[in-house]
Amino acid sequence: MKKYRLLTPGPTAIPENVLAKFAEPIIHHRTSLFEVQFKKVQDNLQWLFQTKQPVLTLTATGTGAMDATVTNLFSPGDEVITVNGGKFGERWTKICRAYGVKAHEIVVDRGAAVDAVAIEKLLSANPHTKAVLFQASETSTGTLMPIQKIVELCHKKNVLSICDGITAVGIFNVPMDDWGLDVLITGSQKALMLPPGLAFISLSERAYKAAESSKLPKFYFNLIKERDSQAKQQTAWTPAISLVTGAVESLQMLRDQGREALFAAHEKMAEATRNAARALGLELFSSAPSPVLTTVKVPASFSVDQGKKITKIMQEKYGVIITGGQDELAGKILRFSHFGYTDLFDIVNGISALELTLHELGYQVEFGTGVGAVLKTYQ
Ligand SMILES: Cc1ncc(COP(=O)(O)O)c(C=O)c1O
Repeated sequence: MKKYRLLTPGPTAIPENVLAKFAEPIIHHRTSLFEVQFKKVQDNLQWLFQTKQPVLTLTATGTGAMDATVTNLFSPGDEVITVNGGKFGERWTKICRAYGVKAHEIVVDRGAAVDAVAIEKLLSANPHTKAVLFQASETSTGTLMPIQKIVELCHKKNVLSICDGITAVGIFNVPMDDWGLDVLITGSQKALMLPPGLAFISLSERAYKAAESSKLPKFYFNLIKERDSQAKQQTAWTPAISLVTGAVESLQMLRDQGREALFAAHEKMAEATRNAARALGLELFSSAPSPVLTTVKVPASFSVDQGKKITKIMQEKYGVIITGGQDELAGKILRFSHFGYTDLFDIVNGISALELTLHELGYQVEFGTGVGAVLKTYQ
């Protein structure tokens, strides 16, 4: 028997009381029973997104909401800027190009945050640009983007700011209305501590205006139709009902904790993990580390194959599941996530398994060094 512990960037662990909701009898969605539950979700989502705008619930993963953003806001031939700081930024470019939207792409060095000056230059060179699409936190590299600077720039140039906050909302502060974001997105399997299957998206009034003139074909993801339907606590199509009832529970847990406490807890876990990595002699990969996950380079003496073995041994021998790098970063970095239903003791478990694994692979480890650094951070 093995006990598995998820320290992955989604899905994250699900609290026991949320899991228990999935064992309840299903309700029908075209009933007042559903509407009462859905209203609670809507209210708590507005609290989480820090917006007065409706936050729409879509039955999809996060990519569905990214796709919906492009098809609902743009027309064929429209020009946008996409920030490709990793796999998820690259996804914005791919979605735009798939629909005939012309993406001027900024490719950022892996592990670096985008320089707002580069965006400004590209905006000046391409005056017909309608929007900047970016990540709040690029999960493939563990990098925090300069969100507020990008949004300010968008306002200055009168273009839409479209933020993939899939690994940001509920983890660190991204106040949609205060900062003036036009689109903010997240997904259920991240900070919301639910299984994958729901995406959440909020649009500013400016973004809805753009939606009204969008000419790209759309059917399943029609955000204006969803807005009108969800104003009556109904979704346009059959929603993932069980996930919605689970969200009642998980969002209430977040609300009970409070936003500031939530963000502070994530900051602390990130600081502890970074300290543990440094204490173990591991180099941080990102030059702008995100509070969502800590990315570290595998020891310089390791081959790519050895690097890949770290996550394999941690999972197979110790039941601790972290993620490695994707694509060109496979076998070169480790991604240790600390968000959602995660606490100090999960970090301690994860670092313990990392110490044992590195030792097994021939890296010199004084047992307890990383764990000690975690505990000292919390002391
Ligand atoms: C920043 C970011 N954007 C987009 C996605 C894609 O979301 P999904 O896998 O839910 O479609 C992810 C998933 O990890 C992500 O971390």
